Amino acid sequence: MHRDRIRKPALESRVMSADQAATFFRSGMTVGMSGFTKAGDCKALPDALARRAREDGLKLNILTGASLGNDSDGMMSEAGLIARRMPFQADSRLRRDINDGRVMFVDQHLSETVEQLRGGNLPGIDIAIVEAAAIREDGSIVPTTSVGNTASFVQQARQIIIELNLAMPLELEGLHDIYVPGERPDRQPIPLTSVSQRIGAASINVDPSRIVAIVLTDSVDSPSSNLPPDADTEAIARHVVDFFSGEVSAGRLTPALLPLQAGIGTIANAVLHGLLESSFSGMTMYSEVLQDSSFELLDSGQFTFASASSITLSADMNRRFLDNVGRYASRLVLRPQEISNHPEIVRRLGIIAINTALEFDIYGNVNSTHVGGTHMMNGIGGSGDFARNAHLSIFVTKSVAKNGAISSVVPMVTHVDHTEHDVDIVATEWGLADLRGLAPRERAAMIIERCVHPDYRDELRSYHRRACAVGGHTPHLLGEAFEWHRRYAATGSMRAPATEPA
Ligand code: COA
Repeated sequence: MHRDRIRKPALESRVMSADQAATFFRSGMTVGMSGFTKAGDCKALPDALARRAREDGLKLNILTGASLGNDSDGMMSEAGLIARRMPFQADSRLRRDINDGRVMFVDQHLSETVEQLRGGNLPGIDIAIVEAAAIREDGSIVPTTSVGNTASFVQQARQIIIELNLAMPLELEGLHDIYVPGERPDRQPIPLTSVSQRIGAASINVDPSRIVAIVLTDSVDSPSSNLPPDADTEAIARHVVDFFSGEVSAGRLTPALLPLQAGIGTIANAVLHGLLESSFSGMTMYSEVLQDSSFELLDSGQFTFASASSITLSADMNRRFLDNVGRYASRLVLRPQEISNHPEIVRRLGIIAINTALEFDIYGNVNSTHVGGTHMMNGIGGSGDFARNAHLSIFVTKSVAKNGAISSVVPMVTHVDHTEHDVDIVATEWGLADLRGLAPRERAAMIIERCVHPDYRDELRSYHRRACAVGGHTPHLLGEAFEWHRRYAATGSMRAPATEPA
């Protein structure tokens, strides 16, 4: 039975259905699931656990690498299964339940979750459910399209359930580099000094006696929901590429740039896509997610190597990858997310980080997570891991959202994920503001002139002028700083009534 996938014969007897495996769970347990931005997530247990929630009210605390695919987050939330969820999600139904207060969501830096588990700051993992391409002779687990937090969940869990996915090619074996940092305070430096270096094992070590169930599945990851580039995202990409060209001309970067990180979503994917039109070559990526653009750049030869924690692709690109894993294998590695996002390594390698803001303010503080300051969008993800420690920290966004009713550049952000101290460059489709070495008053002048949509520029100029007249290192009019957000909540538009289009 699947001898090429279950290579330790003693484990064959543990194959069972997802519904049988779901009987191991008790309400109140903490469960660590594989899965990172829809890649390498469990395909069968979420459904079986949701059925139990509907039948007998099962409630679990669910930890993952990042967001799940397969509609799992929404489906489990709708069934009432999820009591507590961390560290990231991107599902509209789960988002609704979080914002209604039905699910307690803990929004965490993605590099930190397993560190907090290891240190006892979070309740321990009772059961880990992990997707695998194979179980080796020694019982160790070969992950699929993500590593995420799986290695540490497996190390720490009392019991382990493996979803063995027969649709995942066996050529994935060898793609992963599993390294888990040692205990503190005697931990040694992580010995990674180049993007392509391998420092760990090809599979996740486990004591096979803790594997209590193996469930067979055969469906591929769900596709990414990124939209194709449009005129605005192409303009943002042009500004970023022009900025890089200027840095190369000034001798601060070489044509290989420095290892790139790009955040999730349509805009960051489009910015990387823009590099296809550039003359840069010999580039590498040290990121947490590889999206379609990363594979286009590997195909074009402009990327020589890509390191990440997961691979999240459109349906077509995913098929191309799965059918050609061998062709990419020598130029790819998947690592645990605490290594792909580790501050020590991000600082050491000199990463150029490109992440997306929901909104930023005139001083360069960034809100990536909270719509209107209160409502969770997805979570901070890895953006903070990278932004604080990067060689260059770039944030991009379209200048307006919701057909122009929202300005993404505001007097003061309503929630701060990345302070002005962690932000070097901001860009919208109107232009790019290079904030390096500028004081707050200078930052504001540059952001307003370069990045703001013309519909909102005059009002922001007026705000800043009047704030400067009152004084301060970072001048604000506190009674007015959130007026645009208040106006949007009251009228459905941030525009001043006099400037509202007829
Ligand atoms: N106020 C309210 N809504 C806003 C907004 C604002 N200032 N700016 C954007 N939005 C909405 C858009 O209208 C869109 O809504 P829709 O889904 O209803 O159409 C949604 O946010 C996504 O925006 P979009 O412009 O399509 O960008 P995106 O797909 O690139 O996503 C983020 C942008 C910020 C939501 C996403 O990048 C994110 O979650 N970032 C935080 C995590 C992160 O940075 N991880 C990086 C390491 S992986």
